Amino acid sequence: TGPLKVALLGCGTVGSAVLRLVDEQAADLAARVGRAVEVVGVAVRRPDRHPEVPAGLLTTDAHGLVTRDDVDLVVEVIGGIEPARSLILAAIESGKSVVSANKALLAEDGVALHAAAAKAGVDLYYEASVAGAIPLLRPLRESLAGDQIRRVVGIVNGTTNYILSRMAETGAGFSEALAEATELGYAEADPTADVDGFDAAAKAAILASLAFHTAVTAADVHREGISSVTATDVARAAEIGCTVKLLAICERVAGRPDEAEGDTVAVRVHPAMIPTSHPLAAVGGAFNAVFVEAEAAGQLMFYGQGAGGEPTASAVLGDLVAVARNRVAGAAGAGPSAYAELPARPIAET
Ligand code: HSE
Repeated sequence: TGPLKVALLGCGTVGSAVLRLVDEQAADLAARVGRAVEVVGVAVRRPDRHPEVPAGLLTTDAHGLVTRDDVDLVVEVIGGIEPARSLILAAIESGKSVVSANKALLAEDGVALHAAAAKAGVDLYYEASVAGAIPLLRPLRESLAGDQIRRVVGIVNGTTNYILSRMAETGAGFSEALAEATELGYAEADPTADVDGFDAAAKAAILASLAFHTAVTAADVHREGISSVTATDVARAAEIGCTVKLLAICERVAGRPDEAEGDTVAVRVHPAMIPTSHPLAAVGGAFNAVFVEAEAAGQLMFYGQGAGGEPTASAVLGDLVAVARNRVAGAAGAGPSAYAELPARPIAET
């Protein structure tokens, strides 16, 4: 049998790393999947901006590419809601399994996308959408699927962690630290997504949905960014043995015994002072770290690079191998449940 054919949507920092790694690791990927994996098309808006991509692969017709009969798998690294949503739905409806790194889309429309994938009998994986290289979503949706998760607390935005770390280490001002983060490629194209907590809120929604088998959207997340954190705040925190971190906190909240209500899920993102002795306080630079507390497993900590082309591409390739293996086996994976076991509520209402 011939190679599994992959359509790549987007060729920015992550997409170009994916393309390069699939090429460099072709022999290993073929061995691990059981069939060769080949990128047969790369959809971009401006082909003239991608001299590194073989010209024969480039197209501006993303819809035509994802619905091509010979394409088996689609990797979406465009980001944002549209056209990514329409393209992913078109791919799913024409029977392709999809790997996405798109946190904004999954946080808004995860339920509908999962329903479409289940209906079409294809896979939808998106490990790279939260905390870059760190294996986190599959541990939540697979390894811990038999446990009861109580809480997920994490540093899930590298840009703000870099900014807060630089402010603490060097006394640098906010703008100076942000400029460095942007230069290093951590910040989103529009850094307000990082600074105002939208990026972390989208990731928190995805984490909460998978951890609690429910449907949490970014709009359900109470959100406060770091733009009002000053150099003085950071210095004062240090004086009392604390570090300022932007935390994403997802918790199961027990229903009140005097009410008929069952448990719910509360999700929030805000800057917090944590003691320097806390393991999360030691997470510096653009690193991410996520604590998970589960009934039977106890405390788990996941730590690693949460942003950047190669680390994020590592997670994309891991998903690509998973969906390719399922394709070779002739079965889509079960995927997470799309039902609402627990209702979400913004913390502001509690
Ligand atoms: N801008 C994001 C961050 C990139 O800083 O964490 C990874 O999602």
